[in-house]
Amino acid sequence: MIMYILGIESSCDETSASVIFTDTDTNENKILSNIIASSVNEHALYGGVVPEIASRAHIEAISNVTYAALDEAKVKLSDIGCIAVTSRPGLIGSLLVGVNFAKSLAYANNIPLVSVHHIKGHIAANYLLEDAPKPPFFAFVVSGGHTSLIDVKDYDDMITVGTTRDDAIGEAFDKAGRVLGLSYPCGAEMDKLAYEGDCNAVKFPLAAIKDDTLDFSFSGLKTAVINYVNRATMKGEEINRADVAASFTKTVCDSVIKKTELAYERYRFKKLVISGGVAANSHLRRVLSQFCEKHSISFYCPPISLCGDNGAMIAAQGKYEYLSGNFEGTSLNGKASEQVCPKACQ
Ligand code: KG4
Ligand code: ZN
Repeated sequence: MIMYILGIESSCDETSASVIFTDTDTNENKILSNIIASSVNEHALYGGVVPEIASRAHIEAISNVTYAALDEAKVKLSDIGCIAVTSRPGLIGSLLVGVNFAKSLAYANNIPLVSVHHIKGHIAANYLLEDAPKPPFFAFVVSGGHTSLIDVKDYDDMITVGTTRDDAIGEAFDKAGRVLGLSYPCGAEMDKLAYEGDCNAVKFPLAAIKDDTLDFSFSGLKTAVINYVNRATMKGEEINRADVAASFTKTVCDSVIKKTELAYERYRFKKLVISGGVAANSHLRRVLSQFCEKHSISFYCPPISLCGDNGAMIAAQGKYEYLSGNFEGTSLNGKASEQVCPKACQ
């Protein structure tokens, strides 16, 4: 069966819509458009996403973004076989804009509607690769809101086996970058700055929790960077920002590798998939790809353009929700939080 899927994403500060073409027989997926409008500049002043500003920006953008995605893909609404929308987890006001828009569009045009878990969407960005991974595999979703190690048994059946107990990995990048004077979101700039510094210059605490859990804790690392910079400032000492960025990044990478090693000992996975905004980090991509090479694990990561929030990844997961018959009606609601659960618990 061939089908056009419209994916709509509005869980945080990106309003995005995409049309993908899919052939369910050959498993070929093609992105025909992926329009992203971001309110990130409006949040920069506050050093983080302001939910009310994000919701308002979604309301202003969502209709134009969706029609731009249809135009660029050169398809009409009547060609769309399924609308997929992010319904959970995320900022509730932001989610509701996308959910209500998608519900209205689906209802008015008699198009099947499916809802997508945002983290499953991030994983599904990898299904858009030419050499796409097929489950089972292990996934590591690293973004501004999530740090999740996930055992993916099937396209719609997976379980979170490790997560962060406090701040997400991307939040640590953003807050460490902020204290170094970078502008929000700081991840990409931290990535570049880290190349100019000595990664052994400052010793920071690992974000990998010490016991045998697969969980992380990034708040200690984040606070250690903030304290290091503030202490030096109070003493009137100059800090080498590149050394701090490099040392912080090395600590993040060491923490991630530590837990990936532990997960590998337990699950012996043959494929590792990464995704989410922080999966764009070149240092993290390098250490994870080296780890996989050492253990003969196949390593998959999306292109940078599909790491952050986008509609194409939601359409990509929407395909499997559609094939599983997980249809939604006008009672679909947004949900601020929900772990990725195995099928048996849903
Ligand atoms: O996936 P995403 O767009 O939104 C969420 O679902 O949270 O991720 C945004 C996060 C931000 O924290 C941003 O600083 C981070 O991804 N990020 C990076 C890089 N590019 C974006 N972090 C580290 N290195 C990068 N190159
Ligand atoms: Zn995301």
